Amino acid sequence: MSTRTLIRGGLVITAAEETHADVLTDGERIVALAASGSDVAEGWHADRLIDARGKYVIPGGVDVHTHMEMPFGGTCASDTFETGTRAAAWGGTTTVVDFAVQSVGRSLREGLDAWYAKAEGNCAIDYGFHMIVSDVNESTLKEMDLLVQEGVSSFKLFTAYPGVFFSDDGQILRAMQKGAANGGMIMMHAENGLAIDVLVEQALARGETDPRYHGEVRKALLEAEATHRVIKLAQVAGAPVYVVHVSAQEAVAEVARARDEGLPVFGETCPQYLFLSTDNLAEPDFEGAKYVCSTPLRPKEHQKYLWRGLRTNDLQVVSTDHCPFCFSGQKELGRGDFSKIPNGLPGVENRMDLLHQGVVEGHISRRRWIEIACAAPARMFGLYGRKGTIAPGADADVVIYDPAAEQVMSAETHHMNVDYSAYEGRRVTGRVETVLSRGEVVVERGEFRGRAGHGVFLPRCTSQYLN
Ligand code: URP
Ligand code: ZN
Ligand code: ZN
Ligand code: ZN
Repeated sequence: MSTRTLIRGGLVITAAEETHADVLTDGERIVALAASGSDVAEGWHADRLIDARGKYVIPGGVDVHTHMEMPFGGTCASDTFETGTRAAAWGGTTTVVDFAVQSVGRSLREGLDAWYAKAEGNCAIDYGFHMIVSDVNESTLKEMDLLVQEGVSSFKLFTAYPGVFFSDDGQILRAMQKGAANGGMIMMHAENGLAIDVLVEQALARGETDPRYHGEVRKALLEAEATHRVIKLAQVAGAPVYVVHVSAQEAVAEVARARDEGLPVFGETCPQYLFLSTDNLAEPDFEGAKYVCSTPLRPKEHQKYLWRGLRTNDLQVVSTDHCPFCFSGQKELGRGDFSKIPNGLPGVENRMDLLHQGVVEGHISRRRWIEIACAAPARMFGLYGRKGTIAPGADADVVIYDPAAEQVMSAETHHMNVDYSAYEGRRVTGRVETVLSRGEVVVERGEFRGRAGHGVFLPRCTSQYLN
């Protein structure tokens, strides 16, 4: 017998509407919604009743950009699939799409199988994979077809990180042509990595070794240039393109211009670019290392352009780029040389709350919050219907959210496996109360009730955003 759960009396918010409705789940699925207090809703019986009066009832968050236990920068991201997906659940996220990595000289298959093995049996919530393509060649291009059939329907390429993930323009064009043919979405890390490496060398030669120089050499203009270039390459290939972690105002402008021309160009930003800035990178005593990520944090003035892009739909998705490294022992690898600080910030647990804070502060509406954090990422990456909304037939991934609760973000209380919070001491309004993942309660009023291995692999179809 499957368990039926009745979530009664909350304000149900989806990307499309807000209604006072009761939600009935049966087993792993949502089976019905009805107006609260209606005869239909009053007639329902269930095994478990959740009182959501005064609360929001929202779809579980969909974070389409995480790096659990990724080897990078001479070390390894500190959250495993077990700790990272548990932290995600704590923060109201019930789906992650993580990046499997192809190593240069190896096949996509080998990289993807390694990621299946890391995740299998360890995840508290459901998960999918994108594939990082580091070595575009004839056999890799053929493998891309197989991966799309297998439900790994998106590929990340880099104009940054020469010698690691970097692809040249010819390789990027070939991958985009493949994406145009098989429906795979090409995701681009857009920064001019070759030019940045020259500026890094010159900065270090001048004795500019502190974390803040990471932000200075990775110039906004070089993000804009690479964004412009990958958009043109996609246009030549006849392919859509999704630009990840957009941080500079000038890069938003490139995405917006392409969209105004009617091109299928999409943009993602992350909470760190909306809430943090070069002021953090400049914190003394090497504290700035906590904020080293690429694309880098920008001066505060950029934030309003990112929020505006999210309102105007020039940017469609907010994901975290969760890639945590401990301050102690990991970020410290770059003391005396900012280029050796492993790149990445923790945040998988904080995204839903920080974006709700964007609602509180008037940057976005409640429905836009759900659109950019749940619905759009699901649609962009072939998960919509099952994930990203509250509707009959959808997975019962539901969050009961208390919009009035106050909390202070801190490493003392977070659940990510990292020794600092990028948002230490930040006070926000709103907090996750209860989280259901495929009908099972995984978080309830300050207690984790899920388990490693509950989460299943999600084979994804091609993007539903274009139709
Ligand atoms: O600094 C970052 N973003 N680290 C993760 C790797 C990437 O480029 O997304
Ligand atoms: Zn029953
Ligand atoms: Zn990237
Ligand atoms: Zn990333």
